[in-house]
Amino acid sequence: MRTKENKKVKTATKNKRILSAKYKKPTSKPGKAKEPYQPHFGESAEIPFPGPKVPKFKFIDLFAGIGGFRMAFQKAGGKCVFSSDWDKYSQETYEANYGEKPVGDIRSVKVSDIPQHDILCAGFPCQPFSIAGVSKKISLGRKHGFEDERQGNLFFEIAKILKEKKPKAFLLENVKNLRGHDKGRTFEIIYNTLTEELGYKVFYKIIDAQSVVPQHRERIYIVGFKDQNVDFAFPEFPKEGPKLGTILQETVPDKYTLTPHLWGYLQAYAKKHAEAGNGFGFGLVKPEDVTRTLSARYYKDGSEILVSRGTGKIPRRLTPKECAALMGYPPNFTIPVSDTQAYRQFGNSVVVKVVEKLAAAITKQIC
Ligand SMILES: C[S@@+](CC[C@H](N)C(=O)[O-])C[C@H]1O[C@@H](n2cnc3c(N)ncnc32)[C@H](O)[C@@H]1O
Repeated sequence: MRTKENKKVKTATKNKRILSAKYKKPTSKPGKAKEPYQPHFGESAEIPFPGPKVPKFKFIDLFAGIGGFRMAFQKAGGKCVFSSDWDKYSQETYEANYGEKPVGDIRSVKVSDIPQHDILCAGFPCQPFSIAGVSKKISLGRKHGFEDERQGNLFFEIAKILKEKKPKAFLLENVKNLRGHDKGRTFEIIYNTLTEELGYKVFYKIIDAQSVVPQHRERIYIVGFKDQNVDFAFPEFPKEGPKLGTILQETVPDKYTLTPHLWGYLQAYAKKHAEAGNGFGFGLVKPEDVTRTLSARYYKDGSEILVSRGTGKIPRRLTPKECAALMGYPPNFTIPVSDTQAYRQFGNSVVVKVVEKLAAAITKQIC
């Protein structure tokens, strides 16, 4: 099919060219893991989100996506000294906003090439730990902490960096069910590794973003400090959050309205499931509502969040700009990629406004 998608790609390429002309490109190739990492940030005022001029601390951004952690930690006064994400479209968005292209596959980065930092941030993918007995070995205290058998699991890439770089603190984020994943075993291994093996004082909490953005989105946040005397408490979040109406655009192009065919299909699907007692298949929302969780699959049919356009009218999807706002990104966040990629990136992201509050609480302890 050469139609709409091609058009979007062309527009994205054009936008990219315009953006590239705006700021100075990094001169080295950070995508190559073999070369020592050369950070690039704040080279030009044209970058929408350059780092602070006088930073209070340094941090790294792993599994960076589109930089939800970076946005929040820069606001807290931090300078990002290393970032990694292997997805080329996320790298594009990241570079357009922060002026730095993240390094690719973290598994091929030498830890010694990662600059020293105060805080490690990572929203890592949740994977099962397939190696039987790892947890037991950890609690028994192994001689060699990170051996071949753990390689390939992305959490252990984080652990490896923590072990060698010993940052003062870290902030990890994951889906709510990390806690219960693989009958609690995944979380147990993570917790034991961070505490017993790496010597961090660890705190964790499930936070629902709906107190700061109009979206029900529960995520687990794990915070750790090297200093055992730190007395950290998760910040208070407001009880009542904003409603969808606060982020809706006034004029939205027709292309975001569902086709009659798709709307008919979703209604029939929902009816079938409602009759079987399985709840509704789509989430229709009005300005006074809070949405369901935006998923990385939103580009498919948008069914989890459909914006009502009034009685008798076919609803529409959120626009990428509205998704940005729903995830707590500021209005000048640049989206240089196609709608499909943008939906995927926002659906995978952290909620910036949640991380802002956490960043303020964490940095209070270490700065
Ligand atoms: C849940 S998303 C994190 C999103 C990010 N926290 C944000 O605010 O946008 C996980 C990211 O990990 C990246 N990723 C997965 N495996 C990776 C690897 N081996 N090396 C580098 N990045 C990887 C994916 O491309 C994805 O963007």
